[in-house]
Amino acid sequence: MPVGRGDLISMTPSASRLTTSLRDIGYDFASAVADLADNSVAAGAQRIDISIEFEGLDSRVIVADDGYGMTENELVESLRFGSRREYDRGELGRYGLGLKTASLSQCRCVTVTSRRSPSRSHIPSRTLDLDLILEFDDWLIVDPGRTDLVRRAQDWLSDAPGTVVIWEKLDRVLPTRRPDGGWARRRLTNLADKVSRHLAMVFHRFLEGTENGRHVVITVNGEKLTPWNPFARSEPATVELSPQRFEINPAEGESGHVELRRFVLPSHDRFSSPAEFERLSGPLKWNRQQGLYIYRADRLVQWGGWAGVRAIDEHTKLARASLDFDTDLDSAFNINVAKMKVSLPPDLRKMLERPLHELCIRANGAYRRTPRQQAASEAAQQESAAESATLDRTGLALRSAAAQAGEYAAFKRVAETLRKQAPDIAEALGL
Ligand SMILES: Nc1ncnc2c1ncn2[C@@H]1O[C@H](COP(=O)(O)OP(=O)(O)OP(=O)(O)O)[C@@H](O)[C@H]1O
Ligand SMILES: [Mg+2]
Repeated sequence: MPVGRGDLISMTPSASRLTTSLRDIGYDFASAVADLADNSVAAGAQRIDISIEFEGLDSRVIVADDGYGMTENELVESLRFGSRREYDRGELGRYGLGLKTASLSQCRCVTVTSRRSPSRSHIPSRTLDLDLILEFDDWLIVDPGRTDLVRRAQDWLSDAPGTVVIWEKLDRVLPTRRPDGGWARRRLTNLADKVSRHLAMVFHRFLEGTENGRHVVITVNGEKLTPWNPFARSEPATVELSPQRFEINPAEGESGHVELRRFVLPSHDRFSSPAEFERLSGPLKWNRQQGLYIYRADRLVQWGGWAGVRAIDEHTKLARASLDFDTDLDSAFNINVAKMKVSLPPDLRKMLERPLHELCIRANGAYRRTPRQQAASEAAQQESAAESATLDRTGLALRSAAAQAGEYAAFKRVAETLRKQAPDIAEALGL
């Protein structure tokens, strides 16, 4: 039976319940800041300045960019959960959620100030405040007026277009007890370090300059980030295996290609310096930094491990590979809202097995060449030779004791049974 309009009921979600639930969709502090940086990169920014400022309960995070900014209407739309807009191929945004979900995962109040027009007349701001949404159970945003922070944002935008996002009421960042104490201050300092390391890694191609000419400078509390490239490309002893390209057709009418580049990094003794070896170990350290580095439109979205193709192994810790896919394969890769996780399409996973196996064999070889490993493996060989000599002597002693006791025939029957039941032990004893 056809359904008429009259049979349909529009169920508007509860603003207070949904905004509260959306706070927990899996961001940590660094990935939340990275999601704001995504928006800046998508807006063509060449510079992103991040300030993480401790001031007790008034602590704040400010992300300012010189991208093309937003008109007042776009600014309002940007704060809608599920912003209405189209995306170009290669754009980092996808869900229309990042700005809101990333911000509210860390704070209760986010203010966006933006300027689109090069000949500015007025620079608008809007605030999304969780407490207001909870009070009215409605999707409200407000004009914050000219607060000190808004004025600071406007000053930042006084010369050229751009956008400034400010997080306040950092309830997920500051401890509830003594948010103005020394521990809270140290926590913010540590988080600023983490953000620097995280952004230096996930945006390293933009910081270095991408192949199609994008270059972005990012500062955290005034310090310019140095890109962290996982592949030690400037080390002379780094070995690159032949690159590979795969065509995949995840669904009817959907197709795209994926690029794989494989690297064996030098072992400790072949690095140009111990400090560089230490730096390349990365935020998760050598063992857990091995594996596939998956890039979506040049932004690193997943790393650490082999994405289900194989397990992390100490012997293959020098193996790292980049896998690039473009946004037209988003649904095949199942990118999540926080842009921190993908899953490999099953047919691609199969195609990757052989080239990654080959890479791991090479990495295993490089790993075993380290003097420490060589010494360890020689020591293990000596130990096992000594053990087998002892077992041999034990077998001989048993044999001769059986003969002296006049029970050699019985001993042979025992040996025969042992050979059947535990052939490895019989062999080790020389029986
Ligand atoms: N720094 C910025 N400069 C210019 N426009 C921005 C900026 N931040 C957000 N916007 C606008 O606001 C919109 C909403 O941002 P939001 O991060 O919520 O979603 P998205 O980037 O479209 O998708 P995703 O959920 O994948 O991040 C963006 O699509 C963009 O149009
Ligand atoms: Mg976004």
